[in-house]
Amino acid sequence: MTLEIAVEKAQNSRIDQVDFNNIQFGKIFSDHQFIAEYDGEKWTKTRIVPYGNISLSPAISAIHYGQAIFEGMKAYKTAEGGIQLFRPQDNWKRLNRSATRMGMPEIPEEVFMEGLEELLRVDEAWIPTTKGSALYLRPFMFATDDFIGVRPSDTYKFIIFSCPVNAYYNQPLKVKAETEYIRAAEGGVGSAKCAGNYGAVMHPTREAQRQGFNQILWLDSKEHKFLEETGTTNIFVRIGDKLVTPSTDKHTILEGITRDSLIQLSRSWGIEVEERDISIDELVEAFDKGELKEMFGAGTAATVAQIELVHYQGKDMQLTNLDQWEYYTRLKNAMEGIKTGSEADPFNWVHKVY
Ligand code: COI
Repeated sequence: MTLEIAVEKAQNSRIDQVDFNNIQFGKIFSDHQFIAEYDGEKWTKTRIVPYGNISLSPAISAIHYGQAIFEGMKAYKTAEGGIQLFRPQDNWKRLNRSATRMGMPEIPEEVFMEGLEELLRVDEAWIPTTKGSALYLRPFMFATDDFIGVRPSDTYKFIIFSCPVNAYYNQPLKVKAETEYIRAAEGGVGSAKCAGNYGAVMHPTREAQRQGFNQILWLDSKEHKFLEETGTTNIFVRIGDKLVTPSTDKHTILEGITRDSLIQLSRSWGIEVEERDISIDELVEAFDKGELKEMFGAGTAATVAQIELVHYQGKDMQLTNLDQWEYYTRLKNAMEGIKTGSEADPFNWVHKVY
């Protein structure tokens, strides 16, 4: 440990008030949070304090101009009682790519990693152990200058808090291919995990939900033709025996860590994976020919989430045999096994906290 972290413990833990058999995603927060501050030159004041409100100027540019980025990660308890994270350095690297795109300072690896590890040690009791559950970690950074001119802030806060969670979705998804609104254009911020990307999806997603769908399936911004991602996940489709997922080359979709893991696992099993454009017409044609066998979302919060129905221009493509989807089941189980330590970790993805 090289970073000095002052720890102020909560006087009373709230853990006894939590029903771990009935957890709603993102509603319950563990006892502590890690905070670091950027003073214009360096990250300072690294500390762990009780989880709670923070005081901020109403003029901070995070609120007005959206200099705000985040990550999502999960920590697990192994059967032997150890704590482990999944590919945390990849979250750190992605946070820094997002920071660069948004004109924000990078976070040094030790601030990110040691803050995370110390928070996990302090709030270890909050890591749930029932199948499918985890302690969700939300590292995020935002601009704190109280100045409303449009320029990058000089000062920032980096915070990590955590929530015990189950999978984000507890049922297969019905998604609506969105033909009016777009999520990201080439050259924009689509690959950055910035707050604004999620703010922009709220209205179209709510409209889709009013129409009976769970989520939006985003199409590209130029032609409204190529699949991108859902409102919360990357996507995979199985056409025949091939697995196809939109490529990240145009920087319009998130470079998902779960996405990359599913690609590597599938290839290691001999499954052919194509990272390329998939048009909605190709999806419709595959469905009509009976070749669209499986479709799923991939993300940290959602893990691997079945997509049972795609709606496109009045047509409902309802997939069948959901309990027999081979790639989905194998990938979901392998990811869960590796993350929780019940299966071997052939790619050295697991990071043991202790
Ligand atoms: C995650 O999967 O961790 C995310 O950050 C997506 C979020 C919309 C829940």
